[in-house]
Amino acid sequence: MDRLLTRPAVALATFAVLSLMATGAQAGDAAAGRNVFNAQCSTCHSVAPSGATIVGPNLYGVVGRKAGTLKGYAYSSAMKASGFTWTEEQLRTYLPNPQKTLPGIKMTYFGLKNPAQLENLIAYLATLK
Ligand code: HEC
Repeated sequence: MDRLLTRPAVALATFAVLSLMATGAQAGDAAAGRNVFNAQCSTCHSVAPSGATIVGPNLYGVVGRKAGTLKGYAYSSAMKASGFTWTEEQLRTYLPNPQKTLPGIKMTYFGLKNPAQLENLIAYLATLK
């Protein structure tokens, strides 16, 4: 008898937790995204308002910026020719697999596969303006 009652309860609780996680992932937590940035991107990218170039271009204000156009940075021809503007949607496509999205670019980063981390990171990048 106990088992019959417990099983659906567990299933329901699991569903509730998963739904919460999904909602959290959609909203994107910028504070958590900052940690992702520091761990995965900061060796190559600065986000200081007038920060220097490290290996990659400065990413302050990147959301809304036309790709491959930061003055003074020597982009690859592939990035210069991309022709799009960095929107949250564009970053969502690009970051999990940069080389596949834009073949020939010189960002040697394997990609951010974790969807929750990706949403958090994008939320953080959107605050940099
Ligand atoms: C190993 C160094 C390296 C790492 C790590 C790295 N990048 Fe890059 N990134 C680059 C380089 C180099 C470019 C320039 C690519 C080109 O011109 O082909 C670039 C370009 C970019 C651009 C395009 C900017 C523009 O002005 O058009 C974005 C956006 C970007 N990176 C985001 C990220 C994010 C977010 C992370 C962390 C998840 C990250 N990168 C990790 C090296 C790196």
